[in-house]
Amino acid sequence: MPTGQVVLIRGASGTMKSSLAYSILYHNGQKGVKGLYVTLEQEAASLLHQMAALGFKPASVSDSVPILDLGKGRVHLEKLAEKVRGLAQGRSERPLTAILRAKIQQLKKQFGLDLLVIDSWNALELVLEFQDRRGETFEFFEWLRALGTTTFLIAELPAGAEDGLEEEFLSDAIFRVRLEPVTDTAFQRRLQCSKMRSANHSSDFFTLVFEGDHFEVAKAIS
Ligand SMILES: Nc1ncnc2c1ncn2[C@@H]1O[C@H](COP(=O)(O)OP(=O)(O)O)[C@@H](O)[C@H]1O
Ligand SMILES: [Mg+2]
Repeated sequence: MPTGQVVLIRGASGTMKSSLAYSILYHNGQKGVKGLYVTLEQEAASLLHQMAALGFKPASVSDSVPILDLGKGRVHLEKLAEKVRGLAQGRSERPLTAILRAKIQQLKKQFGLDLLVIDSWNALELVLEFQDRRGETFEFFEWLRALGTTTFLIAELPAGAEDGLEEEFLSDAIFRVRLEPVTDTAFQRRLQCSKMRSANHSSDFFTLVFEGDHFEVAKAIS
């Protein structure tokens, strides 16, 4: 994957988007590559518990893969905002946006982040309360790109919604995960890279299988 890109991981709930994103940070983390996991949908403890249940050993990468826990809801975020209000001063953007950016930037400075996961874009949008969705989404993506990390934005796909969403235009790469019925009763997970700027990639659907503590992809046979 080209470094510095903003990568959207899109799919319905339960398609293992969070696990896939964590797996990327985890295996890079084992090699010393620094990655930050920003969790907004579930609390860090619950995320780590889930990842341990899958077979990962989160404690083994806790130095290289810190978790930024924003999963405690609005009140927690407002409190955080209050605490570090100074960081946001003199900026035109709203406090919560400034807090999030300042926090990520601070970690980047301290740790030298190479990878960033935001789980999820949908939750982030809710928290940040964009008033001008188009403009603020554009601005946020510009900021992410300037950050220089390879960023994975997890996005739940609302039923019925397909294309034309701002974040799809703005992302450098898009991965889609879906549950595909293979018989009347059986499903397989499928992964497709539908976009990747400056890469001659396959747009085919691959089967996505979780094995022990890692994902494997294989050519899908229909
Ligand atoms: N050991 C396992 N092996 C394979 N799949 C699992 C295992 N444990 C849980 N899952 C699947 O992972 C899903 C949750 O993954 P998660 O990454 O949270 O999905 P998402 O973020 O897309 O909602 C569960 O719905 C379940 O189907
Ligand atoms: Mg998830």
